[in-house]
Amino acid sequence: MNRELISRIAHAGHPIAAPLDDDAVRDLLDHSLPRGDERVLDLGCGGGEWLLRALAGRPQVRAEGVDLAESALLHAREAAQGQGVEDRLMLHRQDAADFTSPHAFDLVISVGATHAFGGLLPTLAAARKHLAPGGRVLVGDGIWEREPSEEAVEMLGDFADLATTMDRVTTEGWTPVHGHVSTRRELDDYEWSWTGSLASWALDRPADPDSAEALRAATTHREEWLRVYRDTMGFVSLVLRPTSG
Ligand SMILES: C[S@@+](CC[C@H](N)C(=O)[O-])C[C@H]1O[C@@H](n2cnc3c(N)ncnc32)[C@H](O)[C@@H]1O
Repeated sequence: MNRELISRIAHAGHPIAAPLDDDAVRDLLDHSLPRGDERVLDLGCGGGEWLLRALAGRPQVRAEGVDLAESALLHAREAAQGQGVEDRLMLHRQDAADFTSPHAFDLVISVGATHAFGGLLPTLAAARKHLAPGGRVLVGDGIWEREPSEEAVEMLGDFADLATTMDRVTTEGWTPVHGHVSTRRELDDYEWSWTGSLASWALDRPADPDSAEALRAATTHREEWLRVYRDTMGFVSLVLRPTSG
């Protein structure tokens, strides 16, 4: 099984591929789309869930998503068709770091995809290049709630605590106008859903040649979450505006 297929199955019950509940996602989008006629770009859009929720109930919003995962983009396209918003959603299969566009965007989203750019600050630098005057960025990334183990840093990357993260972001010329720190419940719900969806898929298909591997992947992920990072990793989502310009 490739990582793409595992990820698709694991996100069946939690289509936002990050530890945020539906209320938090709605609240962040409301603060990111104050007019309702914005042009939105999602760098590392995965299955397109942020864009689909941005389009729902905002008939004048237009959206574009960029991702490398073909199956995730296929899912996004089918979901957009199912919701009747496909004419307002454009999807690009390419490296988000190489994406260029003839027009700027009022909102640039990148949640849980900062590794595509080499970290939070490079992600913000990339987002800035796509931003129209007066635009906003909605970014989500890991933080350390406590001192991480070496193993956690190796597995997840070198985050910082919340205050240090905010210092770095503001020093780069961004002002947070809204934010959300994922609660323990959101963090746990996401991991239980990830591992539980994958395990259920495997148990429902004992004769499938991928069943044993899927169950192993769910078990490994659950063990790593519980042993390596459950007590140290958190997640922050920020709505940012350029401090000047
Ligand atoms: C954790 S998922 C987040 C998906 C989505 N932002 C969300 O919150 O639901 C990270 C996504 O980044 C994508 N990704 C990773 N590296 C990328 C790259 N270099 N260019 C584009 N997408 C990338 C992955 O394929 C995956 O869909």
